[in-house]
Amino acid sequence: EQIEKGGFDHFMLKEIYEQPSVIKDTYRGRLLADQGLIKLGGLEDHIQKFVNADRIIIIGCGTSWHAGLVAEYIFEDLARIPVEVEYASEFRYRNPIITEKDVVIAISQSGETADTLAAIKLAKSKGAFVYGVCNVVGSTISRETHSGSYTHAGPEIGVASTKAFTTQITVLTLIALKLASVKGTISYRDYNIYLQELELIPEKVEKALLSNEHIKTVGEVFKNARNFLYLGRGYNFPVALEGALKLKEISYIHAEGYPAAEMKHGPIALIDEEMPVVVIAVNSNHYDKVVSNIQEIKSRKGVIIAIVSEGDTTVKEMADYVIEVPNTPESLTPLITTIPLQLLSYHIAVMLNRNVDQPRNLAKSVTVE
Ligand code: G6P
Repeated sequence: EQIEKGGFDHFMLKEIYEQPSVIKDTYRGRLLADQGLIKLGGLEDHIQKFVNADRIIIIGCGTSWHAGLVAEYIFEDLARIPVEVEYASEFRYRNPIITEKDVVIAISQSGETADTLAAIKLAKSKGAFVYGVCNVVGSTISRETHSGSYTHAGPEIGVASTKAFTTQITVLTLIALKLASVKGTISYRDYNIYLQELELIPEKVEKALLSNEHIKTVGEVFKNARNFLYLGRGYNFPVALEGALKLKEISYIHAEGYPAAEMKHGPIALIDEEMPVVVIAVNSNHYDKVVSNIQEIKSRKGVIIAIVSEGDTTVKEMADYVIEVPNTPESLTPLITTIPLQLLSYHIAVMLNRNVDQPRNLAKSVTVE
């Protein structure tokens, strides 16, 4: 097992550090930036189904559901297709309205999650076209779907999902960009900029990983906190949810993810000097709004850990702790902002002596309903 961990103390840390290379594996042969092309075998034959779809319904559970939420932003933003994201377990029991004009994307690392599988069968029985985004090759979901794209993240052993999440987002981004180019909802110039920026993601993730020691010192300060709040807006709202989930899963500290603007409708009541608030405050269309959210937290004596873009000055002056990440276009930021949140939860869990790779009560693959 020590050999399999490749010199890392835990599989989770190894898998966090694998992200630059597995993201590259995910787009290898599919993203041809110099030719301005995206080639996705599973998509080519069915592209008209997506183009003509009334809407896309994305289903998943846990971290895969969070990847679906990120995809909602990117599909609507770039490809202008209405998207609904559903927990598979809610969708399947709700008597949902599904027609032949719907495309369903099922996201699953293991390809074995019982609720996701049952939701796929339901969607197929109503005539929808179902596309899978799975990691495990030959898994049940990859066989039950009409077509799909693998994420190529390699085996993920840590129960808390890390590299599966970022590679799911990579595949979904490729699909969204491909559809945007076919539908003409993106300019030729922007499309090419995205392709080039996607190719730079692995080295930016590598750079984000360089903050590891700094993040460990931040973790040391907060390891005894009882509650954490994670805030983000837009593309980084799902990242806030995922950051909170990671902390809960492996450290057993209560954490909530929230869209920053909703803070005033509830969570703000929880804020005092005991409450660490992780705010994703990278460059985006909402930067100024996030700055005002930080001011609201500071005026209630909350403690801020901010994830900021390189070169940031405004948030740096306001936050108690700052973690810098490289700049990238807003639609691609989840691939970068996720990294420090994974590391923060990892270090806190290690300091609390938790079983990081196999947290209590959780399973890697949930094959029961
Ligand atoms: C379990 C795992 C999570 C995972 C979820 C969905 O809860 O512990 O890490 O996100 O199932 O699994 P799937 O394999 O369908 O992505």
